[in-house]
Amino acid sequence: MSILIINIKELLQVREENVAILKGAEMKILPILKNAYVFIDHDTIVDYGSMDDLIGIDADEIIDATGKIVLPTWCDSHTHLVYAGNRVQEFVDRINGLSYEDIANRGGGILNSAAKLQNMDEETLYQQSVERLKEVMKQGTGAIEIKSGYGLTVDAELKMLRVIKRIKKKFPLKVRATLLAAHAIPKEYKNDKNGFLKVVIDEMIPAVAKERLAKYIDVFCEKGYFSLEDTDKVLTAGKAHGLIPKIHVNQFNAFGGVALGVIHNALSVDHLEVLTQEDISALQDSDTIAVALPSCSYFLGIPYTPARQLIEANIPVAIATDYNPGSTPSGNMNFVVSAACIKMKMTPEEAINAATINGAYAMGISKQYGSITKGNKANLIITKAIPSYTHLTYAFGENHIDKVIINGIEVE
Ligand code: NIG
Ligand code: FE
Repeated sequence: MSILIINIKELLQVREENVAILKGAEMKILPILKNAYVFIDHDTIVDYGSMDDLIGIDADEIIDATGKIVLPTWCDSHTHLVYAGNRVQEFVDRINGLSYEDIANRGGGILNSAAKLQNMDEETLYQQSVERLKEVMKQGTGAIEIKSGYGLTVDAELKMLRVIKRIKKKFPLKVRATLLAAHAIPKEYKNDKNGFLKVVIDEMIPAVAKERLAKYIDVFCEKGYFSLEDTDKVLTAGKAHGLIPKIHVNQFNAFGGVALGVIHNALSVDHLEVLTQEDISALQDSDTIAVALPSCSYFLGIPYTPARQLIEANIPVAIATDYNPGSTPSGNMNFVVSAACIKMKMTPEEAINAATINGAYAMGISKQYGSITKGNKANLIITKAIPSYTHLTYAFGENHIDKVIINGIEVE
């Protein structure tokens, strides 16, 4: 099946050569072709150019995009999309004055989600996750990273990762799985964190690696969760089994986790709502990308990641949803892109770069995703008729999307 999209008002993120990552000032530049066409064949972008140069391409379907913008689909490099039920009661409790920390301290939070997930059968977990996945695809997400971490037992972590694997097989979007075994200390190990770490290192990591259920290893490096020493142990064990490190770090406290991530050659360090000069220095000249999660800051009312400081220090920044039941019950990348501009003072160009090319880098797929490049995967968003691409970030909360094409297939 081939599709020719014609009369595109603005074709965004056009790159003749594939670009792996954008750092600092490079993030300001978003290449645009006006009055353009794109031709896709099966799952691949085959050609693009100016309408003036379009001659005789035969296609099975022609889409007239007069007045519309076309851009690559979003690459959401950080989600916990597979989870059981919801935590709406904690949301109300927070409105009534409890903090995220208070809720976790009384046994809620991640442990609440873990209890729900442990008690849910795999089929129901799959069905609930698929509902969310279909929604984010309609919202323009064409590649997604999904973490485990609400299992906290060997069986329940494997259950989560099998659900991710099933999603990967069934849906056209690109899926990358992460083992987030050290997400919280289970109740049974409340006074025996090392006992739990032993399960993570001796049982979970080997089991997951053996079944090739994850590509990445993640840890929640935070006070009350996992220390630098714990994080170091888990990342080391993960690497020994071929898993690539990523970390949840500096969400509430900064104590050296970013530098530890860089030492471990982490692909990404995520959250960074609290950031020190040492963290910035550690990231400079590393291959580790900073991932900001503005919807999480919005929902919890915590600081936003200082993206300007990072960009000015020539550090690459990606943005992602963090879709999860506790801190971000939204997988809408359009909101993330807009919030990055409104709250983190990223320019529309920087935010779109952060959600496409840099998002792809943060999930290790920028060779084929994140830009309009010949040979890349045919993952495209076609907007409704809007004045210009900046409208995507300016008119927040509106649905600007008309069609989404993922792997050459139109999303219903
Ligand atoms: O990325 N911070 C750690 N993990 C998730 C939220 C976990 C939860 O509250 O369920 C996050 O925000
Ligand atoms: Fe997260």
